[in-house]
Amino acid sequence: MTSTLETSGQSAAPARVATKRHYLMCRPDHFTVAYRINPWMDPAVPTDTSLAVAQWNTLYETYLSLGHTVELIDQVPGLPDMVYTANGGFIIDNVAYGALFTHPERQPEGPAFMEWFREHGYEVAEPANTNEGEGDFLLVGDVILAGTGFRSASNSHEELGEIYGREVVTLTLVDPRFYHLDTAISVLDPLTGDKTANIAYLPSAFDTASRLELEKRFPDAILVSEEDGAILGLNSISDGYNVVIANRAVGFEKQLRERGYNPIKVDLSELLLGGGGVKCCTLELR
Ligand code: ARG
Repeated sequence: MTSTLETSGQSAAPARVATKRHYLMCRPDHFTVAYRINPWMDPAVPTDTSLAVAQWNTLYETYLSLGHTVELIDQVPGLPDMVYTANGGFIIDNVAYGALFTHPERQPEGPAFMEWFREHGYEVAEPANTNEGEGDFLLVGDVILAGTGFRSASNSHEELGEIYGREVVTLTLVDPRFYHLDTAISVLDPLTGDKTANIAYLPSAFDTASRLELEKRFPDAILVSEEDGAILGLNSISDGYNVVIANRAVGFEKQLRERGYNPIKVDLSELLLGGGGVKCCTLELR
């Protein structure tokens, strides 16, 4: 039984505060599915680049309408997955830890993103270990949650801890559909210094030790349904109040409202053919 805000009295949802964010996106001018490096991708299924651009544009306009700043990186022809900028690096305090991609198909993206970071005044930390940026590294309050199992190697977690001097918590993913951490966890209040920062996650995407760690650290987390998880519903972006989510994530939408967040639904069905959603198309520049 879930109690509603009206009847729960003392446990009413806290007031949520939105803060302005700074994002990096890549218009999918050369989007297609040309290879298969995750179970969502099937090169035999046709893609519609103009539809991908139109859907991406709705996401872009949504961020602008919320008052966020969005920078753009040009998509390099022949690198169709560049639209998923979340994998291009990880940035805190102007220091960008570069990505070193797992699959050869995406490896040229690493230097392309690092060049953009340098040109835009970020200090670049060249990676020594395989990692896919914010796809696997999520800042929650002062702690970095770091995924491994499919893409980022666990020695990149150590590297990350040395670069930023913050606590890094390793979490192991076990379901190939949820190959990046941002497909299984959504950071709802991602501000540095916020001790009450909360998350939403899909427990079945993790091994037992990681599940226990998440239960211990985030006792008030939103646990999403398998249905919402299975359409990459967790792959979302929050500014602390507004949470941009997949339009099909109806259960998650309800859970967010109950907690006092404002879910905003967008349709990125075409980009889902590459195995990515809202979060994958967005890199936070801190
Ligand atoms: N096709 C891309 C890949 O498999 C999708 C990346 C999605 N990005 C993310 N942050 N989960 O690498």
